Amino acid sequence: MKSISEFMEQDHNRLDDLFNNFKELKISDENKAKEIFAEFKSNLEKHINWEEEFLFPLFERKTGMFNSGPTAVMKIEHKNIKDLLRQISEKLISGSMQTDELDKTLVTFLSSHNQKEENILYPMIDKSFNETEVKEFYENIKNFSPEE
Ligand SMILES: [Fe+2]
Ligand SMILES: [Fe+2]
Repeated sequence: MKSISEFMEQDHNRLDDLFNNFKELKISDENKAKEIFAEFKSNLEKHINWEEEFLFPLFERKTGMFNSGPTAVMKIEHKNIKDLLRQISEKLISGSMQTDELDKTLVTFLSSHNQKEENILYPMIDKSFNETEVKEFYENIKNFSPEE
């Protein structure tokens, strides 16, 4: 069975690829770029939901680290990331492709966020979850479709 850190890291990489794809397509194919951005946004929101609905609550229960631990910081960063996604999305919907500044900010936020999860939080999760809990996580996300 794949470790949670390996699985979640792969998802970070997949999301990074989608966003790079969007930035390249902005120049050559606006409609396709918008389509890829919508896919990126919903997949990143889904990734954040996996963390906030399943990984973080169990980690907090197991370690007793609620308001002062790494998950508290990650949740604040999620808010900022979702806010940027919304701003870029609104621009694209209004017909503007001028999102370069917002794109840059998002990349900065997201890469520092992902680094922290990959280097600190996910390894702590790997250590604190037992095999049954890891299995349950994979089961849960298979059946999970958050409302948009
Ligand atoms: Fe996250
Ligand atoms: Fe993540």
